[in-house]
Amino acid sequence: MIHVLSVASECAPLVKTGGLADVAGALPAALAPHEVTMRTLLPGYPAVMQALKTPEIIWENPDLFGGPARVLAGQGGGLDLLVLDAPHLFDRKGSLYLGPDGKDWPDNPERYGALCWVAAQIARDGAAGWQPDLLHLHDWQAGLTPVYLRQHGLPHVPTLLTIHNIAFQGLAEAEDLVRLRLPATGFTREGFEYWGKISALKAGLIYADKISTVSPTYAGELLTPEFGMGLDGVLRVRQADLVGILNGVDTEAWTPPYKTARGKTRHKEALREEFGLPESDGPLCVVVSRLTQQKGLDLLLEALPRLLAGGGQLALLGSGDKALEQAFTKAAKSEANVAVKIGYDEALSRRLIAGGDAILVPSRFEPCGLTQLYGLRFGTLPLVAYTGGLADTVIPASPAGLRAGAATGIQFHPVSTEALGRALDQLCALYREGATWRRMQKNAMAHPVGWEHSAADYADLYRAVLTR
Ligand code: ADP
Ligand code: GLC
Repeated sequence: MIHVLSVASECAPLVKTGGLADVAGALPAALAPHEVTMRTLLPGYPAVMQALKTPEIIWENPDLFGGPARVLAGQGGGLDLLVLDAPHLFDRKGSLYLGPDGKDWPDNPERYGALCWVAAQIARDGAAGWQPDLLHLHDWQAGLTPVYLRQHGLPHVPTLLTIHNIAFQGLAEAEDLVRLRLPATGFTREGFEYWGKISALKAGLIYADKISTVSPTYAGELLTPEFGMGLDGVLRVRQADLVGILNGVDTEAWTPPYKTARGKTRHKEALREEFGLPESDGPLCVVVSRLTQQKGLDLLLEALPRLLAGGGQLALLGSGDKALEQAFTKAAKSEANVAVKIGYDEALSRRLIAGGDAILVPSRFEPCGLTQLYGLRFGTLPLVAYTGGLADTVIPASPAGLRAGAATGIQFHPVSTEALGRALDQLCALYREGATWRRMQKNAMAHPVGWEHSAADYADLYRAVLTR
């Protein structure tokens, strides 16, 4: 049995801003059949504190980066949790990472530095008799852990760092070194210094034993200047220790609420009604997404006339960038076949994916992406950019894919308005053609999107790290 401490800044079903939470929340159960027990260390945000049952204090400190803190062990959201209860860092209303002004909380380096400090502490002292064999670190928020392990006199506790999104690098000012209890000797180009700043992600990339990311294609892309976001050089140095393991989805939680085509049509009618969309014989396309530059939805705004000209409709649920929120809201006002809900709503996201004919994911980069997997599972055909995990999970309706009868969706490349427009034309044409569409739906629903494969890969990777 391998005992793993997973260190994450968000975790479904307790706290979530994106796919990282789904993955951190799914891994413990997915890994259980592979002789791995996993406990998850989370920040004590209000929602986590409220969900925590039978808490037991396993660690206390009067001054953790500016205030008293303790670690509570307990259960919550079906998970075995260790929670860092540090009110000065985590007892805040609103978004996990952003203050009311929409900018990063100014003390984010300390908030997640504290999480890493405590992770290293647990690696050393255990948690009420439980001792992790290995630490699985997620994204920059857990990146400083291997540095603190050394500080705590534990250079050899094995660590795996998973990159979910390299766009977020956890930068802090050089003058925070002392406050973050970091060794000045590590503040070099070979260490965690990044253009004169501290980078928590780079720290993890340099000092973790192994690095993974969430799809094989993205693992390759990360080595290029186009996708590495300034860290491709570091990753090329560590290339031998970098692997891509695809995310899965919880196939039970994501069981389609219908068994027949007629059942799906009823969900589509209900969705049209809920979104105030008129009857139409074209495809109803849905989007469920953060509205950010990454997701390429500005291209969808530009290509929208092509979808509408093909008789298609759009129903979008998303939030994020204010300019994009406004632009979609405006499009919905002027176009009868476009409807938009700004916000974050889990239940509504399911109704969209159930009721849609197709789900659109035109991302500029996408480490894995989960919504296209939900789409496959629900027979809601994904139309995706050919990048990252989108490239790895969708079999395109190319001439070869169609001839082989294997296609599950539509891919476009390059990620441009023109290429997206052509893909939308193809989507509308395939939809009208009928037979091919139904075949693709069948293929999509049969495509394996669960955790079985990837959980085995993680378990193998843990074993490889442990036997190094
Ligand atoms: P990312 O993590 O980059 O945002 P993913 O596709 O990996 O992208 O995961 C996004 C997750 O967040 C999915 O579970 C998706 O359903 C969910 N999600 C995104 N936006 C919304 C929203 N507005 N309402 C509900 N769920 C959302
Ligand atoms: C990130 C990525 C997304 C991935 C998710 C979970 O937020 O943007 O592609 O699916 O993490 O790994």
